[in-house]
Amino acid sequence: MTQDELKALVGLAALQYVTAGQIVGVGTGSTVDKFIDALATAKDPVAGAVSSSVRSTQRLQACGIRVVEATGVQRLSVYIDGADEIDHQGRMIKGGGAALTREKIVADLADRIVCIADESKWVQTLGQFPLPIEVIQMAVPQVIRRFAALGGQAQVRAGVLTDNGHPIVDVRGLKISDPLALELEVNQWPGVVTVGIFARHRASVCLLGTAQGVRTIEL
Ligand code: 5RP
Repeated sequence: MTQDELKALVGLAALQYVTAGQIVGVGTGSTVDKFIDALATAKDPVAGAVSSSVRSTQRLQACGIRVVEATGVQRLSVYIDGADEIDHQGRMIKGGGAALTREKIVADLADRIVCIADESKWVQTLGQFPLPIEVIQMAVPQVIRRFAALGGQAQVRAGVLTDNGHPIVDVRGLKISDPLALELEVNQWPGVVTVGIFARHRASVCLLGTAQGVRTIEL
């Protein structure tokens, strides 16, 4: 199976976590695109979706799914999203698609976070994938220096601004042995909008696309 087919498989499988008539939280990325496509074909439709990006909003609307503002929602029963990496405790690196801030905001509204991913994303330890950070422009050089002090090589992602208008810094070479501690630390740095570690908002279920089919992992 191709990676695209694996993504379609888990996108479809995620429908079982969605309740008809409710509002669902929707992440961002190529795997989530498949979920949105599946959502559009669901026999019993959802009432709407809270979207985590302009990209997902456009796809949801093109599929005829009502998009609800996060500001008007107090709780979501489920948030469905992809990941760049997910470890065996459900902690994730996210932000490869530059949507990490809104993703974390929508994830924070949800009782349950379901990660959909192909098996290439399933890792023992986070950090092979460069860690994305959304940073306010004037803080970028200082944030890069702070990562250098931790042994990471940080670089501004060329040609990219987030939906919130900020640059992304990608950090290579970090050994993320304690994801929660690093998330909490980097969150304190002035100018950091969001760090792409989702340890406080970890997934409680991972639907992993494998050659043998969808593996459901309760975390
Ligand atoms: C976007 C994300 C995505 O979930 C992550 O990049 C995975 O994307 P894809 O499903 O395309 O592999 O965090 O900010």
